[in-house]
Amino acid sequence: MATERKRKVSLFDVVDEATALSGKISKMNGVGVGGNLSLAQNLNLNRWNGRPYSQRYFDILEKRKTLPVWQQKDEFLQALNANQSLILVGETGSGKTTQIPQFVLEAIKLDDKGKKMMVACTQPRRVAAMSVSHRVAEEMDVTIGEEVGYSIRFEDKSSARTILKYLTDGMLLREAMTDPLLEQYKVIILDEAHERTLATDVLFGLLKEVLRNRPDLKLVVMSATLEAEKFQAYFSGAPLMKVPGRLFPVEIFYTQDPERDYLEAAIRTVVQIHMCEPPGDILVFLTGEEEIEDACKKIAKEVTNMGDQVGPIKAVPLYSTLPPAMQQKIFEPAPPPVKEGGPLGRKIVVSTNIAETSLTIDGIVYVIDPGFAKQKVYNPRVRVESLLVSPISRASAHQRSGRAGRTQPGKCFRLYTEKSFKNDLQPQTYPEILRSNLANTVLTLKKLGIDDLVHFDFMDPPAPETLMRALEVLNYLGALDDEGNLTKMGEIMSEFPLDPQMSKMLVVSPGFNCSNEILSISAMLSGKILLLSSTSLIPKFVTVLGCIGCVLCPVRLSSAIALSGFHATVWCVPQNLLIPNCFVRPREAQKAADEAKAQFGHIDGDHLTLLNVYHAYKQNNEDPSWCYENFVNQRAMKNADNVRQQLLRIMSRYNLKLCSTDFSSREYYVNIRKAMLAGYFMQVAHLERTGHYLTVKDNQVVHLHPSNCLDHKPEWVIYNEYVLTSRNFIRTVTDVRGEWLVDIAPHYYDLENFPQCEAKRVLEKLYKKREKDREDKKNRK
Ligand code: CDP
Ligand code: MG
Repeated sequence: MATERKRKVSLFDVVDEATALSGKISKMNGVGVGGNLSLAQNLNLNRWNGRPYSQRYFDILEKRKTLPVWQQKDEFLQALNANQSLILVGETGSGKTTQIPQFVLEAIKLDDKGKKMMVACTQPRRVAAMSVSHRVAEEMDVTIGEEVGYSIRFEDKSSARTILKYLTDGMLLREAMTDPLLEQYKVIILDEAHERTLATDVLFGLLKEVLRNRPDLKLVVMSATLEAEKFQAYFSGAPLMKVPGRLFPVEIFYTQDPERDYLEAAIRTVVQIHMCEPPGDILVFLTGEEEIEDACKKIAKEVTNMGDQVGPIKAVPLYSTLPPAMQQKIFEPAPPPVKEGGPLGRKIVVSTNIAETSLTIDGIVYVIDPGFAKQKVYNPRVRVESLLVSPISRASAHQRSGRAGRTQPGKCFRLYTEKSFKNDLQPQTYPEILRSNLANTVLTLKKLGIDDLVHFDFMDPPAPETLMRALEVLNYLGALDDEGNLTKMGEIMSEFPLDPQMSKMLVVSPGFNCSNEILSISAMLSGKILLLSSTSLIPKFVTVLGCIGCVLCPVRLSSAIALSGFHATVWCVPQNLLIPNCFVRPREAQKAADEAKAQFGHIDGDHLTLLNVYHAYKQNNEDPSWCYENFVNQRAMKNADNVRQQLLRIMSRYNLKLCSTDFSSREYYVNIRKAMLAGYFMQVAHLERTGHYLTVKDNQVVHLHPSNCLDHKPEWVIYNEYVLTSRNFIRTVTDVRGEWLVDIAPHYYDLENFPQCEAKRVLEKLYKKREKDREDKKNRK
């Protein structure tokens, strides 16, 4: 009776392991221990799957118990029991991400009514979600994808048995679209809250509302030691718990003069440390995949050239799109000395911002911080969102240096001057919501039933202009009506985890009799998805002087940005990093690679070229050697294929017909191009008599990216990305006809709403011609 009452009073009470064990084990199939507790305990059976614990479990457990959060386990559980929301701040590496969800699980009442009682832990980065869930599955001695799982865009590794799910913040937001009260969760942990990603910020506002409606739900907001008080104020005084860090002192070094080329300087510094400094691993912060791979190769080469006077090294890359098996390499130990008594080996991790707070790598003693990261910027006036390599904030620099002092005193080499640090870097990073195109977010919010965006409880409200722009775009796409309400079209569009333009293109594609092809193109364009978050807004004084393009780009202009006392090479990457990176172009075989690419080339545009590649890949049975011989990136293709399947499932769920125009028909490619235009009619450029392209309505001068496959300069093109530099490129372009603009998107190409320009005059003629054609037709009848 007493227990009964207790259960009713406390929605969330600390259950001792024994009760939990008996409840769970008796449910486990194939485990013949039934409710025999003492036997279960004696056998050391795992609470979650009823199997005996492995030796490794106990080994890791010992290590886990030394993590700072373990000191406060009871305090944490009591605070969680007593409060609906809780804020937990702690130094990176104190065990928040891996341990807290396990504490919560241990304490959670196992539900006896068969209702799901999951714990969710969000991560802004997909790599972190994958990596941490693997680690926690190992710590709990269960199989990944079963009791512990993860869910990231286009990949769900969880099952009906999952009780702890790591997922990207974007995925939790998507789940809220179908389960507005997030009823399958008992406790939600928003991790890495200090990152202030767009999705986390939206979740803040949303969860505040959900908590009001679900008194049984608990929320834990976890963050590194940044802005904790701001979170506390926002969550109406939720208690703040601090986990004292275990940081050793870190000595900071600055360069005397600004570095011209941070990549070269970083490599040089690695080599110097390896030669002159006592043992300890090195962590280098760079900005992206190609740069990181390049640096790893160069470091390995330089160290090899030094012969056996220095110890062996292992240079390991870390970035979001790295396959999971490769990601695990960062946790492997440094290589042993080549011969006994020889110089010691060193591990060198070359990473993006991921290693700043999301992943902790033990044993790092030296940090090299060039002071840059890829950051999203958005200009609502021209609707261009780009990822730009730009200086980090001082807060980020502090976090980075902290990585050197996790296990012993360390050193951090900042590849910029102290003056720059003080004068040029922003104190804090701007939240992503202030630097993003919000079209997708607004669509999600509308789907979630939040109509009054102006009064939505944003921690930092976005600029009204950005919100207006988003509403306008969605209205043009037919996702919102003129009153701003979600339409049927908008509802279906919101189901796709894609940009609204792409979703629109998919939804309307059956009407153009080419949904199969549009699916393939969308998959090829989305094959590579990164969630990079940010560190600071580009300061005003940064001038981008040029673009060195991507690997595909034959131009490779070397460029530099100059800030006061802060020099660096910089390049740009396209919006959302939607790079169709299916082509490989190794430096030693560029000509052969270009020839291989040319065989897929379609004269009407890059989208169709991508379609050709996809078709060829499938026709060749996804053969790896075919990929190799044709300089096609097999991983990108597999990824695209996977994305395609997922999108296909959504199409089927909404009964969107899968169809194709007969390949021999002249309309085959025309229909595809029209369907693309139906989604991307706001991303069109017109060729002026001057020979330049101007983006329609925004009138920005742009150039076709040199990687394009066109054999001519079409009068009108649609483009997938706007690459922002001093010479602005549009990349992944396809030829469209002016007539189609007035047929497919007359509401956007409405001349009353059009700035005076050459395109307008051409459109006027097209409208007149259309009028005349109609008259003629009528007369003939
Ligand atoms: O979240 P927080 O930064 O507070 O720490 P954490 O990610 O929970 O990491 C706690 C400890 O687990 C660190 O010492 C990591 O090195 C270790 N860890 C690991 O060994 N392997 C992983 N895949 C993840 C974490
Ligand atoms: Mg963490």
